[in-house]
Amino acid sequence: MFKIFSSPEDIAKKVSELLYSTIKQKPSAALGLATGSTMEPVYAYFVKQVQETGLDLSQVTTFNLDEYIGLPFGHPQSYWAFMQQHLFEPLNIAQAQTHLPCGNAKVLTDECEQYTQKIQALGGLDIQLLGIGSNGHIGFNEPGTPFDRCTHVVDLTEETRLDNSRFFNDLSEMPTQAVTMGIAEIMSAKEVVLVATGLHKSKTMRHLYESEPDPNMPASILKTHPNVKIWLDTEAAALLPKI
Ligand code: GLP
Repeated sequence: MFKIFSSPEDIAKKVSELLYSTIKQKPSAALGLATGSTMEPVYAYFVKQVQETGLDLSQVTTFNLDEYIGLPFGHPQSYWAFMQQHLFEPLNIAQAQTHLPCGNAKVLTDECEQYTQKIQALGGLDIQLLGIGSNGHIGFNEPGTPFDRCTHVVDLTEETRLDNSRFFNDLSEMPTQAVTMGIAEIMSAKEVVLVATGLHKSKTMRHLYESEPDPNMPASILKTHPNVKIWLDTEAAALLPKI
């Protein structure tokens, strides 16, 4: 389950190969995608791999984990913009194939329900990529979130707002809420890959390594998933015992 790689690039290559083989095996695969700095090298490598091999993505469907509430559509720090920049535009993936929760929906509860239904209609996701927040959140499922929740609106914790404010001019611009896929949908994916890189993730990864499934460490539920990979670079694994 836990595997250590020598660099973020090595992990990026492996995750990219996993996405490639998932799509090769099932061209209509439903991919659960994540945002965040950890995913940047992953998507960069995948874009290169698809361009070099000519992998056909025309039948693929994608579902992102989360989106901020309250940012104007297309805001440079929206997760929509992140995905256009790092994956969808370079690979010419049509908008109709991609899904992100809409943080500007008139009735957010309806938006959440519909997001869950769309994922369920496809029989769940074939693979779900995850990063991890410093408090152990996956998507934006903050500590304390029940493990059986589907897509929902979340109040972001101060820790998450501080962490993610690095992408905004200052903390006041950082949204206070988001829509996130729930742990129920994440856990129903056929395969889950959580990636953590960098020394700043080492305490979180030690906590995750030691934790029993506990809603206060949201990622800990992944330990009960039948097909999960938790991939770390040596820096993120710095506080783990030798594995
Ligand atoms: C955000 C996202 C998470 C992501 C986390 C870590 O909070 N909602 O999905 O895993 O950031 O981001 P980074 O990879 O930049 O450390």
